[in-house]
Amino acid sequence: MTSKALRIIREEHRALRVMLHSMQRLVDRGPALDPARYFRCLRAMLLYIDEFPERLHHPKETELLFPRVLARHPELRSAVTRLDADHARTQQAVKGLMNLLVGWELLGEERRPVFEQAFALYRASYLDHMDAEEQEILPVARKVLSADDWALLDRAFEANRDPLTGLYPAEGIYEDLFTRIANDAPMPVGVGAA
Ligand SMILES: [Fe+2]
Ligand SMILES: [Fe+2]
Repeated sequence: MTSKALRIIREEHRALRVMLHSMQRLVDRGPALDPARYFRCLRAMLLYIDEFPERLHHPKETELLFPRVLARHPELRSAVTRLDADHARTQQAVKGLMNLLVGWELLGEERRPVFEQAFALYRASYLDHMDAEEQEILPVARKVLSADDWALLDRAFEANRDPLTGLYPAEGIYEDLFTRIANDAPMPVGVGAA
């Protein structure tokens, strides 16, 4: 069975892969040309990750998707335990990255390597995490979940309305944040060079 929720989960993963790639390009480039714009852009990108993937995407996997898949396919217990642990860890890690970034911005280059290392780890583990969900969980979910499960999951994931997927406009308090990212972030997320 295919569902809107499955499509949204894959689109949100794709959006986050693109965001992490764009952030890595920015981190590699460094703040030389326009530090104020550079750091503002990286902060906006981290805030996006905190507000959308961390606050909306992951909790719905942990609370709604994984338990339903496990109920019908308990063999996935160890994979789900690992992925749930990732969710708990990255939620804290993104806040830690924001602190490390502000340290680099306000205390100078001496604090750059610690941010770079933490971001590289975060990015690599996140990419592994999404690959694991797509390879180990979603194909099983497609087979074992019921129409009622999908109706609930479709409603839940449709409510995320993550503008970075390209499926929804940036609205309300997020309008300025996404305009800033679109203008200042490098390709493929935006058109800027920050
Ligand atoms: Fe996840
Ligand atoms: Fe996910």
